[in-house]
Amino acid sequence: MTRQGKSGIAASGGLDGRVFETRKCVPLRVWTLLCVVLFGLISVEGCRLDMHIQPRYDPDSPSSFFPDGRSERPMVPGTVARGHLRIDELLYTGKINGKFANLFPFPITKKDLQRGQQRFNIYCSPCHGYAGDGDGMIVRRGFPAPPSYHNAKIINTPVGKYFSVMTNGQGTMYSYADRVAVKDRWRIAAYIRALQLSQNATLNELPTSERLKLLADKEQ
Ligand code: HEC
Repeated sequence: MTRQGKSGIAASGGLDGRVFETRKCVPLRVWTLLCVVLFGLISVEGCRLDMHIQPRYDPDSPSSFFPDGRSERPMVPGTVARGHLRIDELLYTGKINGKFANLFPFPITKKDLQRGQQRFNIYCSPCHGYAGDGDGMIVRRGFPAPPSYHNAKIINTPVGKYFSVMTNGQGTMYSYADRVAVKDRWRIAAYIRALQLSQNATLNELPTSERLKLLADKEQ
């Protein structure tokens, strides 16, 4: 007999019919179980969606709630982005009433000078040289030489101008505003003053103890 014939008999009832029924029942339970699991999964997913789709606007999305059709509200006049309120003219431009100032916006301590020295050696010495003579490595390799910090014109330039040159660049020197933070620019300016003093000080300008030390060294 063929397989078809057998199943035909099984489906026709009697003992075989029961076998047929039990065979059908097993997949049914599996289906029920699957449905329960699926339903559970869907409801769990539903909770997640609740958290994801929130009653709020994404940036720049339109809204029918406000008459101007925008979801974001116009800013109150005079609003300033956090960290952008630069009302301290000296600190941010190196000027007082529009003129370069020869003073620092905060007291310069030894620590500030050390920080200035470190920043100067990293960012400025490649052109200006470690002592500020304008003979840095890049210049020795062909870059246009900057003026020495020790010439009278630069010595008489107010520190506010140094700050401004670092901030805005000048001639072939590009801006350092994106690499050197505002206060660090002032610390570098202070260090330039220290460099100028280091090359142009007279013996009498030294504190007595240092002067005596130098004289003692000289005698040895
Ligand atoms: C890539 C080379 C280069 C680097 C690096 C560089 N400079 Fe200069 N700097 C120059 C040149 C060139 C000039 C002359 C610019 C001009 O007036 O044409 C100059 C000019 C200056 C002056 C004189 C401005 C004046 O009053 O005429 C100062 C001060 C100065 N630089 C400070 C700095 C400081 C501080 C740094 C580090 C943050 C720095 N520079 C980094 C090339 C450089």
